[in-house]
Amino acid sequence: MLADQLGRPLRDLRLSVTDRCNLRCTYCMPAEVFGPDYAFLPRTELLSFEEIERVARVFVTLGVQKLRVTGGEPTLRRDLPDLIGRLAGIAGVQDVAMTTNGLLLPRLAGDLKAAGLRRVTVSIDSLDPEIFGRMNGLGTHPQRVLDGIEAALQAGLGVKINTVVQRGVNDAGLRDLWLALRALAPVRFIEFMDVGNHNGWNMASVVPSREVLARLGGEAGAGLFRPVNPEYRGEVAARHTDGQGHEVGLISSVTAPFCGDCSRARVSAVGVLYTCLFASDGTDLRALLRGGGSDEALRGLLAEVWKMRRDRYSEERGETTAAMRAKVEMSHIGG
Ligand code: GTP
Ligand code: 5AD
Ligand code: SF4
Ligand code: SF4
Repeated sequence: MLADQLGRPLRDLRLSVTDRCNLRCTYCMPAEVFGPDYAFLPRTELLSFEEIERVARVFVTLGVQKLRVTGGEPTLRRDLPDLIGRLAGIAGVQDVAMTTNGLLLPRLAGDLKAAGLRRVTVSIDSLDPEIFGRMNGLGTHPQRVLDGIEAALQAGLGVKINTVVQRGVNDAGLRDLWLALRALAPVRFIEFMDVGNHNGWNMASVVPSREVLARLGGEAGAGLFRPVNPEYRGEVAARHTDGQGHEVGLISSVTAPFCGDCSRARVSAVGVLYTCLFASDGTDLRALLRGGGSDEALRGLLAEVWKMRRDRYSEERGETTAAMRAKVEMSHIGG
């Protein structure tokens, strides 16, 4: 079996299909940086669906079982259901999921499901229109995301909800959000991370997950919840139940890093392979794809990169590393 320098297998592949987004979340694509003049990637630079499918196929021969489509906002990629169909058709793929802001799901959920998508993870950070509007940078109303979640459920897609937590920004409303959404889907609270170079991250803005859990429990505090065993090795979210059929996930990359089991590879929309969310650089696959390289050559390159991998950024993180290291942007690597 293929393993990296720390003995970790390759199981998950996250494919970014566009660097564009129809929101400007302050912690991801702040509007001051990603403004009207920002140069997004031209279409010709992006991997074609044929190229993405080929990369995924070869990854599967090395042990990948789960695929996740990301962005930017993946639903902005034209004809996305065609790509989903190609990915779902690869023998050996057990799961095809997508991380999305949900805005276009009312239009697309049915086609995506029909094409073979199993699950979506939808991001929403607050139910307060003013707070959510500020966090998403464009004043977009939370109801639009809720409509997307509803459309996904109607279409029969599995749904999870992601909420990024920032101290002094949306932390006061976490319990309300959880109470309102818990019947719809598991809600996962993500510690604000220092991805990219522009999101103004500092430790003081991080609300540790154990504090989040205490807030969610209200008067009962964190004692309301019991931990649930991971669904698979290396699961990112530490899941908890309130004993009444509702699930909370805590994604604690800052206070409880999970690098030890990290089996995820990431490929950007232009075909750069990254072995960590916080990588400074990656390996260009597109040159090989467009230069007539064989599947064998591609497989050799992927295996070589994975075997050399030693990434464990979240375990090494400190305020200084966070500020000093040049990191790939979230909209480029896909989260
Ligand atoms: P499933 O467990 O398969 O449902 O997916 P997931 O939880 O891995 O996917 P999702 O895209 O929803 O990730 C949730 C959050 O965890 C996002 O904010 C990701 O950026 C973050 N995340 C996912 N993988 C990693 C990782 O390898 N390292 C770190 N530090 N964060 C990650
Ligand atoms: N910290 C934590 N989570 C983030 N996401 C985007 N940027 C950050 C950040 N700086 C989340 C999004 C989405 C997922 C892909 O990553 O909200 O749920
Ligand atoms: Fe867009 Fe998601 Fe980034 Fe928000 S977090 S700007 S929705 S890619
Ligand atoms: Fe994996 Fe890097 Fe995240 Fe650690 S920080 S879990 S190595 S992607």
